[in-house]
Amino acid sequence: MDTPLKGRDYLSLTDFSPSEFQYLIDLAVELKKKQKAGEPHALHQGKTLAMIFQKASTRTRVSFEVAMYHLGGLGLFLSANDLQIGRGEPIQDTARILASYCEGILIRTFSHQEVLELAKYSDKPVINGLTDDEHPTQALADLMTVYEEFGGLKGKRLAFIGDGNNVAVSLMHACALAGMEIALACPENYRPGDKAIKEFEQMKQPGANLTIVDDPKAAAAGADVLYTDVWASMGQEQESRARLEALKGYQIDAALLRLAKPEAIVMHCLPAHRGEEITDEVMECARSRIFQEGENRMHAHKAILAAVL
Ligand code: CP
Ligand code: NVA
Repeated sequence: MDTPLKGRDYLSLTDFSPSEFQYLIDLAVELKKKQKAGEPHALHQGKTLAMIFQKASTRTRVSFEVAMYHLGGLGLFLSANDLQIGRGEPIQDTARILASYCEGILIRTFSHQEVLELAKYSDKPVINGLTDDEHPTQALADLMTVYEEFGGLKGKRLAFIGDGNNVAVSLMHACALAGMEIALACPENYRPGDKAIKEFEQMKQPGANLTIVDDPKAAAAGADVLYTDVWASMGQEQESRARLEALKGYQIDAALLRLAKPEAIVMHCLPAHRGEEITDEVMECARSRIFQEGENRMHAHKAILAAVL
């Protein structure tokens, strides 16, 4: 398939234009329809995606592997512990070898710099499957889910409640591209950094607006989407206790949901810590789109693969 994004890396949403981002959402919706209708969409027969994981994963790993299979190719799960990377082989050597065997490389790791380094030395597309700084494949599936719900994105208000982490940063990028309002409620020391704020300002399209407040109620008021993520991300386990203390007023519960619009939806990238950042009741309520969002990871990832490989 010839696509406008053929050969491109998918490292950060800062690399994409608003029309490229919308193109990926439309392609994801189309590929989802095709799969549900049982129509063939095996665009990548004989192609292989190397998938390096330095952190745990359920959704990203399984959805990319299944997406490659649906496209007629192969997703090759590579745990960093089993690769020579785990014994100190440089990323630039690993990049050139994997790129010589495979048509693309997916990586989930700690350092964002490591992903940029991999992409520099790979002559095949590299996909960022989460770093400490960003989670751009998640944000694509997320806005696809919002798009499915409301039939459009421009002017919609997303309230992100909790830790201003990697997921929050990619949502800021996505909302900037889509012309959405994003209101983050985070305790002072858990706000996204200046870099993400500056990127939002540079990327923002008409309708886009960013506010960062302390009070979850102020962010949730009139929102179309309430979104949250865990309070301690992978690699921050030793900070769990301090984070629990700092973030305990930042839970999405039924009372907070009542402040949003009546038709508002609830989202969470998962995995969730029920009873911490979100209640059991809200996760399971009629306004929750959390499991549709989880499913959409696969359709969105298929769109990325269809477009760049
Ligand atoms: N949301 C997400 O990336 O889930 P996994 O950690 O299970 O891949
Ligand atoms: N912020 C979480 C997202 C997991 C998908 C983490 O980095 O662990």
